[in-house]
Amino acid sequence: MEKKDSSSSFTIGNRTQDRSWSCVPDCYVIPSSNRPSLAPETANVPVIDFSRLRQDATQRANAIKEIGNACHQVGFFQIVNHGICQSILDGALSVASDFFKLPTEEKVKFVSNDVRKPVRYGTSLKDGDDKFQFWRVFLKHYAHPLSDCIHLWPKNPPHYRENMGKYCKEVRKLALEVMGAINESLGLGPSYLSNQMEDGMQVMAVNCYPPCPNPELALGLPPHSDYTCLSIVLQNSAGLEVIDKRDGKWKLIPDVHGALQVHIGDHLEVLSNGLYESVVHRAILNSERIRISIASLHSMGMDEKMGTAEELVDDQHPKKYKDSSFRDFLDFLCKNDIAEGKNFIDTL
Ligand code: SIN
Ligand code: FE2
Repeated sequence: MEKKDSSSSFTIGNRTQDRSWSCVPDCYVIPSSNRPSLAPETANVPVIDFSRLRQDATQRANAIKEIGNACHQVGFFQIVNHGICQSILDGALSVASDFFKLPTEEKVKFVSNDVRKPVRYGTSLKDGDDKFQFWRVFLKHYAHPLSDCIHLWPKNPPHYRENMGKYCKEVRKLALEVMGAINESLGLGPSYLSNQMEDGMQVMAVNCYPPCPNPELALGLPPHSDYTCLSIVLQNSAGLEVIDKRDGKWKLIPDVHGALQVHIGDHLEVLSNGLYESVVHRAILNSERIRISIASLHSMGMDEKMGTAEELVDDQHPKKYKDSSFRDFLDFLCKNDIAEGKNFIDTL
Protein backbone atom coordinates (compact mmCIF):
# COMPACT_ATOMS: atom_id res chain seq x y z
CA MET A 1 0.00 0.00 0.00
CA GLU A 2 1.35 3.37 -0.96
CA LYS A 3 2.01 5.77 1.88
CA LYS A 4 -0.01 8.98 2.05
CA ASP A 5 2.40 10.73 4.37
CA SER A 6 4.70 9.66 7.14
CA SER A 7 2.34 10.72 9.91
CA SER A 8 -0.40 8.33 8.81
CA SER A 9 1.72 5.26 8.31
CA PHE A 10 2.81 2.66 10.83
CA THR A 11 5.11 -0.20 10.28
CA ILE A 12 3.36 -3.34 11.39
CA GLY A 13 5.82 -6.19 11.06
CA ASN A 14 7.00 -6.06 7.50
CA ARG A 15 3.79 -4.47 6.30
CA THR A 16 2.96 -0.84 6.11
CA GLN A 17 -0.48 -0.14 7.37
CA ASP A 18 -2.12 3.00 6.20
CA ARG A 19 -5.38 4.72 6.98
CA SER A 20 -6.51 4.08 3.44
CA TRP A 21 -6.96 0.33 4.03
CA SER A 22 -10.58 -0.29 3.16
CA CYS A 23 -10.82 -3.46 5.25
CA VAL A 24 -8.50 -5.29 7.65
CA PRO A 25 -6.25 -7.95 6.11
CA ASP A 26 -7.26 -11.51 7.02
CA CYS A 27 -4.43 -12.03 9.51
CA TYR A 28 -6.03 -9.43 11.82
CA VAL A 29 -9.50 -10.95 11.71
CA ILE A 30 -10.08 -12.82 14.94
CA PRO A 31 -12.48 -15.76 15.43
CA SER A 32 -16.10 -14.62 15.66
CA SER A 33 -16.53 -15.86 19.24
CA ASN A 34 -13.84 -13.46 20.46
CA ARG A 35 -14.80 -10.35 18.53
CA PRO A 36 -15.46 -7.15 20.43
CA SER A 37 -18.74 -5.30 20.54
CA LEU A 38 -18.82 -1.90 18.87
CA ALA A 39 -21.01 -0.62 21.68
CA PRO A 40 -19.47 -2.17 24.80
CA GLU A 41 -20.95 -1.71 28.23
CA THR A 42 -19.00 0.71 30.39
CA ALA A 43 -17.32 -0.80 33.45
CA ASN A 44 -18.40 0.30 36.88
CA VAL A 45 -14.87 1.12 38.00
CA PRO A 46 -14.05 1.65 41.67
CA VAL A 47 -12.56 5.13 41.94
CA ILE A 48 -10.09 5.77 44.76
CA ASP A 49 -9.40 9.32 45.84
CA PHE A 50 -5.71 8.87 46.56
CA SER A 51 -5.39 12.05 48.59
CA ARG A 52 -7.23 10.22 51.39
CA LEU A 53 -4.25 7.92 51.83
CA ARG A 54 -2.22 10.93 52.78
CA GLN A 55 -4.75 12.29 55.27
CA ASP A 56 -5.60 11.31 58.85
CA ALA A 57 -5.64 7.70 60.05
CA THR A 58 -9.41 7.23 59.62
CA GLN A 59 -9.41 8.51 56.02
CA ARG A 60 -6.41 6.36 55.25
CA ALA A 61 -7.93 3.24 56.79
CA ASN A 62 -11.15 3.75 54.80
CA ALA A 63 -9.27 4.28 51.55
CA ILE A 64 -7.22 1.13 52.19
CA LYS A 65 -10.39 -0.83 52.79
CA GLU A 66 -11.81 0.41 49.49
CA ILE A 67 -8.60 -0.55 47.70
CA GLY A 68 -8.76 -4.03 49.26
CA ASN A 69 -12.38 -4.47 48.16
CA ALA A 70 -11.55 -3.32 44.63
CA CYS A 71 -8.60 -5.73 44.40
CA HIS A 72 -10.64 -8.62 45.74
CA GLN A 73 -13.89 -8.04 43.90
CA VAL A 74 -12.79 -6.70 40.52
CA GLY A 75 -8.98 -6.65 40.19
CA PHE A 76 -8.72 -3.05 39.02
CA PHE A 77 -9.50 0.48 40.08
CA GLN A 78 -8.91 4.05 39.01
CA ILE A 79 -7.06 6.60 41.07
CA VAL A 80 -7.79 10.31 41.11
CA ASN A 81 -6.04 13.03 43.10
CA HIS A 82 -2.89 10.96 42.80
CA GLY A 83 -0.63 14.01 42.83
CA ILE A 84 0.90 13.66 39.34
CA CYS A 85 0.18 16.94 37.63
CA GLN A 86 -1.76 17.02 34.40
CA SER A 87 1.11 18.63 32.48
CA ILE A 88 3.31 15.59 33.23
CA LEU A 89 0.59 13.18 32.07
CA ASP A 90 -0.04 15.25 28.92
CA GLY A 91 3.69 15.60 28.29
CA ALA A 92 4.19 11.82 28.32
CA LEU A 93 1.20 11.19 26.04
CA SER A 94 2.34 13.86 23.62
CA VAL A 95 5.93 12.55 23.20
CA ALA A 96 4.53 9.02 22.89
CA SER A 97 2.23 10.15 20.12
CA ASP A 98 5.04 12.12 18.43
CA PHE A 99 7.32 9.09 18.54
CA PHE A 100 4.85 7.01 16.52
CA LYS A 101 4.53 9.82 13.96
CA LEU A 102 8.27 9.71 13.20
CA PRO A 103 9.36 8.36 9.83
CA THR A 104 9.69 4.59 9.80
CA GLU A 105 13.52 4.77 9.49
CA GLU A 106 13.72 6.46 12.91
CA LYS A 107 11.57 3.85 14.60
CA VAL A 108 12.99 0.71 13.08
CA LYS A 109 16.31 1.42 14.77
CA PHE A 110 14.62 -0.02 17.85
CA VAL A 111 13.07 -3.10 16.27
CA SER A 112 13.93 -6.31 18.06
CA ASN A 113 12.23 -9.62 18.61
CA ASP A 114 14.25 -10.22 21.77
CA VAL A 115 11.95 -9.63 24.75
CA ARG A 116 15.01 -9.13 26.98
CA LYS A 117 16.19 -6.00 25.11
CA PRO A 118 15.89 -2.87 27.29
CA VAL A 119 14.37 -0.85 24.41
CA ARG A 120 12.20 -2.40 21.71
CA TYR A 121 9.90 -1.19 18.98
CA GLY A 122 7.68 -3.69 17.28
CA THR A 123 4.41 -5.39 16.76
CA SER A 124 2.28 -7.51 19.04
CA LEU A 125 3.49 -10.65 17.37
CA LYS A 126 6.87 -11.37 15.96
CA ASP A 127 7.18 -11.08 12.20
CA GLY A 128 6.18 -14.15 10.31
CA ASP A 129 3.18 -15.95 9.06
CA ASP A 130 1.22 -15.92 12.26
CA LYS A 131 -2.37 -16.89 12.06
CA PHE A 132 -3.49 -13.84 14.02
CA GLN A 133 -1.96 -10.45 14.36
CA PHE A 134 -3.03 -7.56 16.49
CA TRP A 135 -3.53 -3.96 15.38
CA ARG A 136 -0.88 -2.32 17.49
CA VAL A 137 2.60 -0.86 17.33
CA PHE A 138 4.58 -0.37 20.52
CA LEU A 139 7.72 0.92 22.09
CA LYS A 140 8.86 -0.74 25.30
CA HIS A 141 11.66 0.31 27.54
CA TYR A 142 13.02 -0.17 30.98
CA ALA A 143 12.63 2.82 33.26
CA HIS A 144 14.40 1.99 36.51
CA PRO A 145 17.01 2.90 37.59
CA LEU A 146 16.35 5.79 35.24
CA SER A 147 19.97 6.89 35.02
CA ASP A 148 20.96 3.42 33.76
CA CYS A 149 18.48 3.34 30.92
CA ILE A 150 17.33 6.80 29.83
CA HIS A 151 20.32 7.22 27.47
CA LEU A 152 19.08 4.15 25.56
CA TRP A 153 15.64 5.63 24.90
CA PRO A 154 14.79 7.36 21.61
CA LYS A 155 16.47 10.75 21.13
CA ASN A 156 13.58 11.73 18.89
CA PRO A 157 11.16 13.34 19.34
CA PRO A 158 13.51 15.77 21.12
CA HIS A 159 11.52 15.91 24.38
CA TYR A 160 10.93 12.17 24.61
CA ARG A 161 13.49 11.49 27.31
CA GLU A 162 12.64 14.55 29.36
CA ASN A 163 8.84 14.17 29.31
CA MET A 164 8.72 10.40 29.56
CA GLY A 165 11.46 10.45 32.21
CA LYS A 166 9.44 12.84 34.39
CA TYR A 167 6.36 10.68 34.08
CA CYS A 168 8.28 7.47 34.82
CA LYS A 169 9.70 8.90 38.04
CA GLU A 170 6.32 10.14 39.26
CA VAL A 171 4.38 7.03 38.32
CA ARG A 172 6.99 4.84 39.99
CA LYS A 173 6.63 6.74 43.27
CA LEU A 174 2.89 6.33 42.98
CA ALA A 175 3.16 2.60 42.20
CA LEU A 176 5.23 2.02 45.33
CA GLU A 177 2.63 3.86 47.37
CA VAL A 178 -0.20 1.85 45.77
CA MET A 179 1.71 -1.37 46.44
CA GLY A 180 2.12 -0.35 50.11
CA ALA A 181 -1.60 0.33 50.38
CA ILE A 182 -2.45 -3.01 48.75
CA ASN A 183 -0.12 -4.84 51.13
CA GLU A 184 -1.69 -3.05 54.04
CA SER A 185 -5.12 -4.12 52.80
CA LEU A 186 -3.86 -7.72 52.90
CA GLY A 187 -2.81 -7.22 56.50
CA LEU A 188 0.88 -7.45 55.60
CA GLY A 189 1.88 -3.90 56.50
CA PRO A 190 2.89 -1.12 54.07
CA SER A 191 6.58 -2.01 54.06
CA TYR A 192 6.11 -5.65 53.12
CA LEU A 193 8.49 -6.31 50.17
CA SER A 194 9.14 -2.58 49.99
CA ASN A 195 12.91 -3.05 49.58
CA GLN A 196 12.39 -5.52 46.75
CA MET A 197 9.92 -3.17 45.06
CA GLU A 198 12.29 -0.18 45.56
CA ASP A 199 14.98 -2.08 43.68
CA GLY A 200 12.46 -3.69 41.35
CA MET A 201 11.68 -3.41 37.69
CA GLN A 202 9.71 -0.77 35.89
CA VAL A 203 8.96 -1.40 32.23
CA MET A 204 7.05 1.10 30.11
CA ALA A 205 4.82 -0.30 27.37
CA VAL A 206 3.97 2.63 25.11
CA ASN A 207 1.18 1.51 22.78
CA CYS A 208 -0.22 3.02 19.61
CA TYR A 209 -3.41 1.68 18.04
CA PRO A 210 -3.89 3.16 14.58
CA PRO A 211 -7.44 3.69 13.30
CA CYS A 212 -8.79 0.37 12.09
CA PRO A 213 -11.28 0.11 9.21
CA ASN A 214 -13.07 -2.84 10.87
CA PRO A 215 -12.82 -2.42 14.64
CA GLU A 216 -15.51 -5.09 15.03
CA LEU A 217 -13.22 -7.73 13.50
CA ALA A 218 -9.83 -7.10 15.10
CA LEU A 219 -8.19 -6.36 18.45
CA GLY A 220 -5.31 -4.11 19.47
CA LEU A 221 -4.21 -6.52 22.18
CA PRO A 222 -5.62 -9.97 22.91
CA PRO A 223 -7.00 -10.92 26.33
CA HIS A 224 -4.16 -11.26 28.83
CA SER A 225 -3.15 -10.52 32.40
CA ASP A 226 0.06 -8.68 33.19
CA TYR A 227 3.07 -10.54 34.57
CA THR A 228 3.68 -7.85 37.18
CA CYS A 229 2.70 -6.93 40.70
CA LEU A 230 0.74 -4.04 39.34
CA SER A 231 0.40 -1.97 36.19
CA ILE A 232 -0.67 1.65 35.93
CA VAL A 233 -2.22 2.68 32.62
CA LEU A 234 -2.47 6.20 31.24
CA GLN A 235 -4.56 6.60 28.07
CA ASN A 236 -5.57 9.39 25.71
CA SER A 237 -8.96 7.85 24.95
CA ALA A 238 -11.07 4.82 25.80
CA GLY A 239 -10.20 1.40 24.36
CA LEU A 240 -9.12 -0.67 27.34
CA GLU A 241 -11.55 -3.45 28.23
CA VAL A 242 -11.55 -5.72 31.27
CA ILE A 243 -13.47 -8.84 32.17
CA ASP A 244 -15.76 -7.88 34.97
CA LYS A 245 -15.51 -10.77 37.43
CA ARG A 246 -18.91 -9.84 38.79
CA ASP A 247 -20.73 -10.97 35.61
CA GLY A 248 -17.98 -12.34 33.35
CA LYS A 249 -18.60 -9.71 30.62
CA TRP A 250 -16.14 -7.50 28.76
CA LYS A 251 -16.52 -3.89 29.87
CA LEU A 252 -14.95 -0.72 28.61
CA ILE A 253 -12.89 1.33 31.05
CA PRO A 254 -14.12 4.92 30.79
CA ASP A 255 -11.54 7.52 29.93
CA VAL A 256 -11.60 9.90 32.89
CA HIS A 257 -9.40 12.92 32.33
CA GLY A 258 -6.41 12.77 34.68
CA ALA A 259 -7.33 9.40 36.21
CA LEU A 260 -4.92 6.48 36.18
CA GLN A 261 -6.01 2.88 35.82
CA VAL A 262 -4.45 0.30 38.18
CA HIS A 263 -4.40 -3.40 37.28
CA ILE A 264 -3.58 -6.27 39.59
CA GLY A 265 -0.93 -8.43 37.95
CA ASP A 266 -0.04 -12.12 38.23
CA HIS A 267 2.63 -11.57 40.88
CA LEU A 268 0.17 -9.96 43.24
CA GLU A 269 -2.14 -12.92 42.72
CA VAL A 270 0.73 -15.19 43.81
CA LEU A 271 1.65 -12.95 46.75
CA SER A 272 -1.95 -12.87 47.98
CA ASN A 273 -2.47 -16.63 47.46
CA GLY A 274 -5.23 -15.89 44.97
CA LEU A 275 -7.13 -13.45 47.18
CA TYR A 276 -6.46 -10.71 44.63
CA GLU A 277 -6.69 -12.21 41.15
CA SER A 278 -4.95 -10.57 38.23
CA VAL A 279 -7.34 -8.89 35.84
CA VAL A 280 -7.82 -10.09 32.27
CA HIS A 281 -7.87 -7.19 29.84
CA ARG A 282 -7.59 -6.41 26.12
CA ALA A 283 -7.47 -3.39 23.83
CA ILE A 284 -10.24 -2.70 21.35
CA LEU A 285 -10.02 -0.44 18.31
CA ASN A 286 -11.84 2.39 16.62
CA SER A 287 -11.98 3.59 13.03
CA GLU A 288 -11.47 7.28 13.65
CA ARG A 289 -8.45 8.16 15.70
CA ILE A 290 -5.12 6.93 16.91
CA ARG A 291 -5.28 5.70 20.49
CA ILE A 292 -2.22 5.95 22.73
CA SER A 293 -1.81 4.16 26.04
CA ILE A 294 1.20 4.04 28.35
CA ALA A 295 1.34 1.11 30.75
CA SER A 296 3.88 1.32 33.55
CA LEU A 297 4.60 -2.23 34.70
CA HIS A 298 5.98 -2.76 38.20
CA SER A 299 7.44 -5.89 39.69
CA MET A 300 10.35 -7.02 41.84
CA GLY A 301 13.84 -7.39 40.37
CA MET A 302 14.37 -9.60 37.34
CA ASP A 303 15.77 -12.49 39.42
CA GLU A 304 13.68 -12.10 42.58
CA LYS A 305 11.27 -15.01 43.01
CA MET A 306 7.78 -13.93 43.95
CA GLY A 307 6.28 -16.24 46.53
CA THR A 308 3.06 -16.28 48.50
CA ALA A 309 3.09 -14.35 51.77
CA GLU A 310 3.34 -16.90 54.58
CA GLU A 311 0.85 -14.87 56.59
CA LEU A 312 -1.80 -15.78 54.00
CA VAL A 313 -1.19 -19.52 54.06
CA ASP A 314 -2.78 -21.88 56.59
CA ASP A 315 -4.59 -25.22 56.68
CA GLN A 316 -7.72 -23.71 55.16
CA HIS A 317 -5.74 -21.72 52.59
CA PRO A 318 -2.90 -23.91 51.32
CA LYS A 319 -0.29 -22.37 49.07
CA LYS A 320 -1.65 -22.36 45.51
CA TYR A 321 1.24 -21.06 43.43
CA LYS A 322 4.82 -21.90 42.59
CA ASP A 323 7.41 -19.16 43.24
CA SER A 324 8.84 -17.61 40.08
CA SER A 325 10.77 -14.60 38.87
CA PHE A 326 10.37 -12.27 35.93
CA ARG A 327 13.41 -13.90 34.35
CA ASP A 328 11.77 -17.35 34.65
CA PHE A 329 8.84 -15.92 32.75
CA LEU A 330 10.96 -14.41 29.97
CA ASP A 331 12.94 -17.64 29.69
CA PHE A 332 9.71 -19.57 29.46
CA LEU A 333 8.47 -17.31 26.66
CA CYS A 334 11.71 -17.63 24.74
CA LYS A 335 11.95 -21.39 25.16
CA ASN A 336 8.34 -21.85 24.18
CA ASP A 337 8.89 -19.77 21.12
CA ILE A 338 11.89 -21.76 20.00
CA ALA A 339 10.61 -25.18 21.05
CA GLU A 340 7.27 -24.88 19.32
CA GLY A 341 8.54 -22.84 16.40
CA LYS A 342 5.70 -20.39 16.81
CA ASN A 343 5.38 -16.85 17.98
CA PHE A 344 4.14 -15.88 21.38
CA ILE A 345 1.84 -13.06 22.18
CA ASP A 346 4.02 -10.22 23.31
CA THR A 347 1.75 -8.51 25.77
CA LEU A 348 4.34 -7.79 28.44
C1 SIN B 1 -4.25 -0.55 26.71
O1 SIN B 1 -3.85 -0.18 25.62
O2 SIN B 1 -4.99 0.15 27.40
C2 SIN B 1 -3.83 -1.90 27.24
C3 SIN B 1 -2.52 -1.85 27.86
C4 SIN B 1 -2.26 -3.05 28.73
O3 SIN B 1 -2.31 -4.19 28.30
O4 SIN B 1 -2.01 -2.86 29.91
FE1 FE2 C 1 -1.64 -5.55 29.85
